Amino acid sequence: MAAARGAGLSAAALLALLALLALTAGRGGGGEGQRGSPHPLPPGLREELRQRRRDLRRLAGGGGEEGEAAAGGLGCGDLRLVTGVSVLGWGFTKVVSRAALAGGGAVALKSVHGAGREVRQCVQRYGAPAGCRRLAAYKLLKEVTLLRRLQHPGIVQLRGQCYDNSGDAEIRVTAILELGSPLEMIQLLQTPWEERFKICLSLVKLLFYLAHSPLGSIVLLDFQPRQFVMVDGNLKVTDIDDVSTEELSCKEDKDCTLDFPTKSFPLKCSAVGKCEGINEKKNLFNAYRYFFTYLLPHSAPPALRPFLSDILNATGDLRYGINETLKAFEKVLHLYKSGLYLQKRPLLLEDYISLKGFRMVEREDYKCWPSYSHLGCLLSVHGAEEAAAICNSQMQCQSFIITQQRTWTGRPLASFQSSLTDLIPDTSAVVYIKRLASSEERLQRQ
Ligand SMILES: Nc1ncnc2c1ncn2[C@@H]1O[C@H](COP(=O)(O)OP(=O)(O)O)[C@@H](O)[C@H]1O
Ligand SMILES: [Mg+2]
Repeated sequence: MAAARGAGLSAAALLALLALLALTAGRGGGGEGQRGSPHPLPPGLREELRQRRRDLRRLAGGGGEEGEAAAGGLGCGDLRLVTGVSVLGWGFTKVVSRAALAGGGAVALKSVHGAGREVRQCVQRYGAPAGCRRLAAYKLLKEVTLLRRLQHPGIVQLRGQCYDNSGDAEIRVTAILELGSPLEMIQLLQTPWEERFKICLSLVKLLFYLAHSPLGSIVLLDFQPRQFVMVDGNLKVTDIDDVSTEELSCKEDKDCTLDFPTKSFPLKCSAVGKCEGINEKKNLFNAYRYFFTYLLPHSAPPALRPFLSDILNATGDLRYGINETLKAFEKVLHLYKSGLYLQKRPLLLEDYISLKGFRMVEREDYKCWPSYSHLGCLLSVHGAEEAAAICNSQMQCQSFIITQQRTWTGRPLASFQSSLTDLIPDTSAVVYIKRLASSEERLQRQ
């Protein structure tokens, strides 16, 4: 049947279908407990397996090449050569390990967590360990299929997969992913506002993509920070087996209440019998309660705060959809990048002497929060004027330079120092010295 539809199927979808066939064919004691197996599967489990298979087949077979990752990538051969395998984390269904590839570079390997809650609960219920592991394997296969079909910077990249049915009992599914690091909310709270804003913006862009995805509007059913990882400072969702592309069916408006522990939202039932925008709204409110409330407001530039509270209010009561939310975020980004948020101040730079052609030797100095460096006080600024305002507000600050380093928004980092010694020539740099500081030092030297 796959061959008959071959023209419409990508190589990647075909691979997933083949894995599915291998799973359902039930090698040596596998199968769904029919065909004379010594331990027939309980009907409930058989039904669950059937449902997952249907779900998977629909996802795997539904698309052409368009938007999918190129076939190829890493496979079972590469897995046999990896070294330094160590567990990174686990959830209810899967366990994830870090591994070094033979050719250099590291990846994350996802497989079924045999001792995880999902398999354990299933075994308790049905007493069929092999069938339960297969149920979990379907989930991972669903994730692989989705990762292949959904391409976005906010979704962890699938680098390959391995369906290994060479063992005698069951097939092993391994997803090979780009390596990230688990999200540490506490750590994030200590990073500069600009970095926290970037994470929220990436999330908004991801939700925008999910709302308009090639598979329809996708809801993340288990939306929690632990389903995300950071890759090179970018937020990416990694756990996408628990998603739905279906919007809730309804007969009348009262079938469409979106419930959260602290709030409920009545939604409309559309003419086609679907709760309008329920998937998009569920994602957005989860983004609000798990990310925006923690990451957006705290230590934001004062002039941006009214815009940020608007975003918080409008997403917190779902007045905004994802399109408006993205627009509002982009407006804040624009204000921030262009320096329009800066309040009009007197020209503080006049209190500083600029020494062109010099910079300071890098060495340990006083710390400030939230510094981009552990060694001293390194902050993102719009320009020398804003740096002067910061230096004025810090007792220890005597001088600063605007470095060549840029943050993700393109703003320069300024390095603030407590002394004037150790100047070295650098044609591209300028040192700004507090006038007061320079005269005080002169006085001290006399
Ligand atoms: N690409 C990755 N890089 C680093 N860690 C990851 C990666 N993917 C997942 N993890 C870690 O593994 C944990 C379990 O993965 P997840 O897909 O959420 O499994 P489950 O479906 O069981 O919850 C995650 O919470 C995360 O900490
Ligand atoms: Mg998870």
